[in-house]
Amino acid sequence: YFYILLALVAAYLLGSIPTALWVGRRFFGLADIREHGSGNAGATNTFRVLGPKAGSAVLLVDALKGFVAAYFLPAWLVAQGAIAPEHELYFKLACGVLAIVGHIFPVFAQFRGGKGVATVLGMMLGVAPATVGVCMLVFIVMLLLFRYVSLASMTAGLTFALLQLLPQFRPAQPFMIYVGFVLAALLIYTHRANIERLRSGTESRVPLFGRK
Ligand code: G3P
Repeated sequence: YFYILLALVAAYLLGSIPTALWVGRRFFGLADIREHGSGNAGATNTFRVLGPKAGSAVLLVDALKGFVAAYFLPAWLVAQGAIAPEHELYFKLACGVLAIVGHIFPVFAQFRGGKGVATVLGMMLGVAPATVGVCMLVFIVMLLLFRYVSLASMTAGLTFALLQLLPQFRPAQPFMIYVGFVLAALLIYTHRANIERLRSGTESRVPLFGRK
């Protein structure tokens, strides 16, 4: 069980890396990105506050955290003989979810991290890559239509859950449907302040095509 425990702790610690906070500090001399923009330590707010280069870097690293946790850690457990190959999916889910929890509640940043969107994306790539393209398409269409990243993120998360119900994507394990809905519910929970702002019309829009 030692390797299993090691992998689970590693997944949480990996997710806990507060990329947005550290990029802001190290490269922009910004003490705490959580005191700027939306106050979120995520890729979107990094785009908003520090620009596209920093934003893309944070998006990439935060997604990698979810992918490495959900893909490589369980594969390593199988290689070590710590788990049977037929149990790998359970560990993909456990490690992926722990990385997401780490991202939202990071031990390295007073447990105030991001909203989990990029890390959920990385986990999906590691667990159910067939559905990710559709989710990203939905995200892009929603962003072009409404210009709210939060709304696009929640819709894409919900799309992932709904796709698990379709015969074309139906996973071998029916419980993936529950996993999808739990992740979607988690994203809605982390976006509760955004939902409030969307309702009151104060949510910030992405200035696409010169529209403010
Ligand atoms: O990355 C999270 C996104 O969906 C919302 O971020 O900064 O607009 O609250 P933000």
